[in-house]
Amino acid sequence: MKLLKSPYTLPNGSVLQNRIAKSAMSENMGTFKNAPTKNLIKAYEVWAKGEAGLLITGNVMIDSRAIGESRNVVVEDRSNFELLQVWAKTVEGTGTHIWPQINHPGRQAFASINKKVVAPSAISLKMGGLTSMFMEPTPLMEEEIWDIIKRFGNTAKILQDAGFSGCQIHGAHGYLVSQFLSPLSNIRQDKWGGSLENRARFVVEIYREIRARVGTDYPIGIKINSADFQRGGFSEEESMEVVQLLSKEGIDLIEISGGTYEKPAMVGHKQKKSTQEREAYFLDYIEKVRKLTQKPLMLTGGFRTAALMEKALTDGKLDVVGLARPFCIYPEIAQDIFTGKRTTFEIIIPKSGIAFIDKTGGVELPWYELQIHRLGKGKRPKNNMSGTSAFIFSLKNIFIKSFIKN
Ligand SMILES: Cc1cc2nc3c(=O)[nH]c(=O)nc-3n(C[C@H](O)[C@H](O)[C@H](O)COP(=O)(O)O)c2cc1C
Repeated sequence: MKLLKSPYTLPNGSVLQNRIAKSAMSENMGTFKNAPTKNLIKAYEVWAKGEAGLLITGNVMIDSRAIGESRNVVVEDRSNFELLQVWAKTVEGTGTHIWPQINHPGRQAFASINKKVVAPSAISLKMGGLTSMFMEPTPLMEEEIWDIIKRFGNTAKILQDAGFSGCQIHGAHGYLVSQFLSPLSNIRQDKWGGSLENRARFVVEIYREIRARVGTDYPIGIKINSADFQRGGFSEEESMEVVQLLSKEGIDLIEISGGTYEKPAMVGHKQKKSTQEREAYFLDYIEKVRKLTQKPLMLTGGFRTAALMEKALTDGKLDVVGLARPFCIYPEIAQDIFTGKRTTFEIIIPKSGIAFIDKTGGVELPWYELQIHRLGKGKRPKNNMSGTSAFIFSLKNIFIKSFIKN
């Protein structure tokens, strides 16, 4: 595992101690007022001891009026600054980097926990039996767009001051940045819609705003979709153009993923069988991207064997291996690989037995969130946890906050 174990220097000079990164997973472990909790921090203490090169946190929201899940952490001012400092300190002395993922959900926000939902255009999510859980979004006005851009910068700056060693813009999975990029969710006719250049303006301005706030030496990454896997949506060709645009701007790490709530390709659903069965879902795409940018590339989705991780690095397809679900079941996965304790990391796909829920990953994600909650309580992962407990947990998360006054 020579390359997996080797350090990697990002363009700004930050050194990752090895090539294994924990990709973002929404922990849903904040308070109902969206502050970080001791348990959330405890989970990161566990991961920090596992010797990964980089830990990317679950999405941190930039605006308390726009949350994806009821217990997301929101950073919009310095009110929880000391807790953020403790969170950032979890990696102290381990050589691991910790970067928050910064996000705005746009229309992918449950109606029960948001008073108003905004997006580039008034186009509702189409989620089959779950559609009614989301409301029709209100199109953003010009000044609201700029407010959100400023908020991304503000959140990044607070987190930088708290001690996080870099940050990642969530530009994937159908959240607001990805809504602007996709012609299916963005039908604006002003400078924020239409041509790809216009649709990409939002993410470019976010990058510039964060850069202006955090300075030139601070790493800024992005997670971007290879495609949203929807007819007429954000395509591979467009994704490659955006990668080139952001490379020119100076982005420090590009993480490739794919899919949206409507087509959850990021966890292997909704893809062609041949792709789904193959380990590392977006490997074909990253090969094409490699030819277009010199910037560091990270690939996430489906990696399950140390052998394939090493091979992808040796073949020069990518620089950093991103893993999400395996970090829930094997929290010390990097250490396990480096000590030879384990080299294969099978994951579990829990089901509720209700077809339309299982199709959207509606049980799978909460099942993995619950494993993170176990880490936060000082417990070990529990592979035989039932899909039903995850289902009940997710219902609580969707509805309880609506009864709690902020
Ligand atoms: C519980 C859970 C929460 C997730 N939350 C996020 C998130 O906040 N941001 C994000 O970019 N991806 C999120 N993802 C997607 C993962 O980062 C990753 O792209 C996906 O799980 C595929 O990687 P894997 O096959 O290694 O799990 C989440 C995945 C899971 C299982």
